Amino acid sequence: MPLIDEADLLRRLAAMTLKEKVALLTGADAWTLTPVASAGLAALALSDGPVGPRGTSFGADTPPSLLFPSPTSLAAAWDEETAYEAGRLMGARAREMGVHVLLAPTVNLHRSPLGGRHFECYSEDPLLTSRIAVGFIRGVQSAGVAATVKHFVGNDSETDRMTYDARIDERTLREVYLPPFEAAVREAGVWAVMAAYNRVNGESMTEHRDLLTGVLKQEWGFDGVVVSDWTAARSCEATALAGLDLVMPGPDGPWGDALVAAVEDGRVPAEVVDDKVLRILRLAARTGALEGVPALEGVPALEGVPALEGVPATPAPPVPGDVRDRLRELAIRGSVLLRNDGLLPLPPGLRKVALIGPNAVRFTAQGGGSAHVTPEHVVTPLEGLRRVLGADTEITVHAGVFPHAKLRPLPPGMATDPETGEHGVRLEHRTADGTVLTAEHRDPAPWWFPIILADEVAELVVRTRLTLPAAGLHRLSVLGTGRHTLRVPGNADQFHERLQEGDDIAALLLNPPSHTFTFTAGAGPIDVELLISPQRNLPYPVTLTGLGYEPPRGTDEKELEAALTAARAADVAIVLVGSDADTETESLDRTGLTLPGRQDDLVRQVCAANPRTVVVVNAGAPWLMPWAHEPAALLWSWFPGQEGGDAIADVLTGAEPGGRLPTTFPATEADVPILSTRPDDDGVLDYAEGDRIGYRAYRPEGVLFPFGHGLSYTTWEYLRAETVDDAADGSVDGSVDGSVDGSVDGSVDGPVDGSVEVTLRNAGDRPGREVVQAYLEQDGALRLAGFAAAEAAPGQTITVRIGVAPRKPSSGPHRLRIGRSAADLPLTCTAI
Ligand code: BGC
Repeated sequence: MPLIDEADLLRRLAAMTLKEKVALLTGADAWTLTPVASAGLAALALSDGPVGPRGTSFGADTPPSLLFPSPTSLAAAWDEETAYEAGRLMGARAREMGVHVLLAPTVNLHRSPLGGRHFECYSEDPLLTSRIAVGFIRGVQSAGVAATVKHFVGNDSETDRMTYDARIDERTLREVYLPPFEAAVREAGVWAVMAAYNRVNGESMTEHRDLLTGVLKQEWGFDGVVVSDWTAARSCEATALAGLDLVMPGPDGPWGDALVAAVEDGRVPAEVVDDKVLRILRLAARTGALEGVPALEGVPALEGVPALEGVPATPAPPVPGDVRDRLRELAIRGSVLLRNDGLLPLPPGLRKVALIGPNAVRFTAQGGGSAHVTPEHVVTPLEGLRRVLGADTEITVHAGVFPHAKLRPLPPGMATDPETGEHGVRLEHRTADGTVLTAEHRDPAPWWFPIILADEVAELVVRTRLTLPAAGLHRLSVLGTGRHTLRVPGNADQFHERLQEGDDIAALLLNPPSHTFTFTAGAGPIDVELLISPQRNLPYPVTLTGLGYEPPRGTDEKELEAALTAARAADVAIVLVGSDADTETESLDRTGLTLPGRQDDLVRQVCAANPRTVVVVNAGAPWLMPWAHEPAALLWSWFPGQEGGDAIADVLTGAEPGGRLPTTFPATEADVPILSTRPDDDGVLDYAEGDRIGYRAYRPEGVLFPFGHGLSYTTWEYLRAETVDDAADGSVDGSVDGSVDGSVDGSVDGPVDGSVEVTLRNAGDRPGREVVQAYLEQDGALRLAGFAAAEAAPGQTITVRIGVAPRKPSSGPHRLRIGRSAADLPLTCTAI
């Protein structure tokens, strides 16, 4: 990697005026920065995010991209190299889309399973989070694209995220919440960090001088850019002096003229602004956006990005040949086989398979919020199963139950603009006396469209001609806030009002509320009208709307009965339950862990109807599974990305499920150590539990599936573990044989930092992959200290070496426990 020529950056800085400098420090718009001709600086483009580069637009015109498995799935691979591979592919794709800065990874922790962005973070454990983040960041940046580690820090839940004050004591911050950021900076050399919305110990994170300047820049030596989370910068001097470098989005924001004035009258030293600009120039040099600075070695020059005129809407290039296979492999690596009575892998020659469940018909490839990307395609489990099972297997499909709160967007071609006949709707902006100010054609596919409200607009009217596929009871959902009235011929007018609380515009855009209207009508075209009185007491003149639809169907009882009949008649029933992008999403924590709707009931009834039932859970975060021991096999697929259906089918038919849980799965809600993510009345979110989160806090009987758990299709015998003193040239210090049950007594004082060699045998009849985990045990508490993957042929014995993370100052006796999960540790090492 070429070194940055700092003298060159200083020369470019010197060529800029104060106004130019300050203009660079706030976005030119939501996703790009202002180009600066005098400095040879192109318009840097930023894009979310953790499941693939979305590109520089959001909403109906988002360009198609690659959709990766969600971060919980990536973390479940427990493998830095896999994370590197994912990062490199994502970086390459970002580059193709003209993106310089990818807003990922998210390394906040799974403090509570209710956290809305749980699917977007890696783990409840700081070490696992750090290792995955380091691999991912190195991969992204190897493609010449900046990774942005976020959200610094304490943004582990979403309720009141703009304002809550996370009270975290110094030791907990240092040992639990800061380490993933520290590893990102010190080990992976990340080029950007995002400052979070929330406060920490009384200080807003965008104004947190101790953490932004003291810890991040001075102590860790971070030389990249600190960017605000979108709209998180709410002051001028305080943020500028604290160490924030870039305010997003733009063009408005708290800096601009106010910062120029602050510099001119000495409240903010000019060097403070210069340092920010230098950091942005350095970022540009690293990402190929500085004229005359070659792109990284081995990284092709950005094509189609003019040097000084912002980033054009480059058409998405074709997917490279084997990218789909690689995305599928990533999803397989993350799949966690939780239980298997021997039904899996499915045998060949199945005559009839019943595919059942809400996620079988509405498969969830990704979670919601700013991480959302528009995939080029999504392979569904039905398509995947058809491919692997072949034409001789009959597959029936039934939803069984309907738990989703929001309907799917209107299918393409179903709605036409009554004026133009194009796909979409006619939108009229009217004044209070009904005068039509403007009328325009809008296309609601695939999601929603924003509407800018002129001052005199009192009402919006959406008119569209729907071609109904069948006669019966139709469900039409409307996204957005305000008062909605639906007019359908032959039906009485229906009203609904939903007002937005607070001024978190991101919450409205990312997670618009939805209301479902019903009406009866025959098949064929029908003109419907939706009147919207938009909410006008908000700080911004914008609203949005989108339409969803569900065709007539049988009653819930009839649909369930049809699913059970299919299950009884099948050789094997495959039930896909789970959640969706509306339930697991940004700006919203979940309120409970029971699967939405009647899904628990569905699983139980199908298991009773057919003992050869496998349940696949399609969700990004833990949900309760009170029926977990009823199906013959249980597979956790996460939100597996665009190739997810193929990956699920492959695992069901024999591909080695590579995943291990990156987070503990609780037995009941009462067992969850931190169940509330609601700040108190003063806005304080007290992290009083200190480092007791995740597996460190659960009682054993409260755990359904432990941290680190996941089955292989083969079986493993743990034979031996030997500690190695790296400093003493690999000599073996102490070991205990695997035949013991871990009760061996023996512990040592002193710092832990070295390796352990673990010998294990593939005792089954298939090749397999095992994730060997080493935990430090001290005072009865465990802490993950290292891990490594082992691959072996049937009967083969192998030895893997696990680097053990240095421990903070030691106190008291400790020992290393080794095994396949936090609750299954057959080997113990007495010394290291
Ligand atoms: C999210 C960030 C994201 C940003 C830009 C914010 O609402 O918290 O993670 O990168 O929006 O979309």
